[in-house]
Amino acid sequence: MRLNPFAGVYLTDPASMWRRILDDPGEVHHAEDLDLWLISRHADVRRALADTTTFTNARTLAPVYQVCPEAMNVLIQLDAPPTTAAADPPVHPRTRRALRATFANTAERVEAEYGAIVRRRVDQLVSRLAARQGERVDLITELATELPLLVVLDILGVPDGDVARIRSWADGQIALVWGQPDPAEQVRLAQGLLDFWHYCEKLVRQRVDDGHPGNDFIGRALAYRDGDDAVLTVPEVASLAFNLLVAGHETTAGLLAHALDQALSSPRHWTDLTADPGGVPAFVAETLRFAPAIDGWLRVTSRDVTLGTVTIPAGARCLLLIGAANRDPAVFAHPDQFAPDRTDVGNHLSFGHGPHFCIGAGLARLEAQIAITRLTEAIPGLRLATAQQRSYKPNVAFRAHHTLLAVIDVVAPADVPATRDAATPEAAAA
Ligand code: HEM
Repeated sequence: MRLNPFAGVYLTDPASMWRRILDDPGEVHHAEDLDLWLISRHADVRRALADTTTFTNARTLAPVYQVCPEAMNVLIQLDAPPTTAAADPPVHPRTRRALRATFANTAERVEAEYGAIVRRRVDQLVSRLAARQGERVDLITELATELPLLVVLDILGVPDGDVARIRSWADGQIALVWGQPDPAEQVRLAQGLLDFWHYCEKLVRQRVDDGHPGNDFIGRALAYRDGDDAVLTVPEVASLAFNLLVAGHETTAGLLAHALDQALSSPRHWTDLTADPGGVPAFVAETLRFAPAIDGWLRVTSRDVTLGTVTIPAGARCLLLIGAANRDPAVFAHPDQFAPDRTDVGNHLSFGHGPHFCIGAGLARLEAQIAITRLTEAIPGLRLATAQQRSYKPNVAFRAHHTLLAVIDVVAPADVPATRDAATPEAAAA
């Protein structure tokens, strides 16, 4: 089977590719061009996410292609210890314990510890948008990518002034690992990643040297280690920050972008949400299932493993197609329909499953819910700009819009007309 995530149908209409793979009687496919084993059925993806002894994380953050020697020379200087998504036992259970203790990860803790930060940042950004009555804005740059980054900087205790370079480094890491950069770009991105890591090391080292760790995430992680390297080392604290700055940013940006796209592409959805914002949490949950911000995730096998009739050899890289699993008819009724009132939505795998389950799931949900609710209140006439084509950044893991253009209307009546000129099949099915 061929899978080109960087061009053609997988980039413009991934759902049709997921359907083709799911409809094929073979359980698992080998994508020869990328040398990746494609795992698509819900039960198999769930098992692979949970069984971290067989499907290990060691190469989850390693580039999906053969890196050029010049970029490799830069990458070998990166000495960030693996802590979360790239760590396996025995390191992962220890660093995961540290993360659970220092980063709010239940709905109650997230609301109590991060609710005020999220509301303050949402109010800032939505008020700025509402002040632009009648203008055409890009919801991606003005809101979706801005909000999660500002929130995660506040949580970690990183200065606002560093937003631009952190955004550029984090975007660069996503393109370097899961994109298809040419050799010159690989070198530039690899150098950016190294600079990003040195920045995180310095941020943490300064706190240690100051002797005033503070009460933000970095301060809490340093207090948690309490000088004991067996609990957590100082470089591991820096590595946690390094991971969170990326994990907390483009992922939630994707959730917001897909939710706004779904909501505004159908006038019925937007009017329903403005009339009853109580429907926002269910809408966000269905967006997570239907259009996951991460729709493919990498694992590497530690031994030969048989799924159905197919044996994947040891040492093989597998792409867990979360987007396909979320549309498996064995689990979801009418899986290609966007249905915020569905009862099976809780089975989606968009935040993973098992030992590496997303630590930021509660935060991502809260950000999306507060942002959309606030938008429906402040800009009820918000509508998509006409004549725009959807396009996504070429990437094997992250499905990120390039732009989502909308018109600001703070007073329009609720029954806005349909504006989607170039409807994706997902929206057409909605
Ligand atoms: C819609 C938003 C998000 C999505 C779709 C998402 C998705 C995921 C997925 C699929 C995993 C599992 C990785 C694996 O099994 O190897 C994961 C892990 C993780 N996520 Fe998220 N994430 C989101 C938001 C966030 C946020 C806001 C943060 C923090 C600020 C965050 C931090 C992490 C971390 C640290 C891990 C690694 C956990 C571990 O390895 O133990 N994520 N995320």
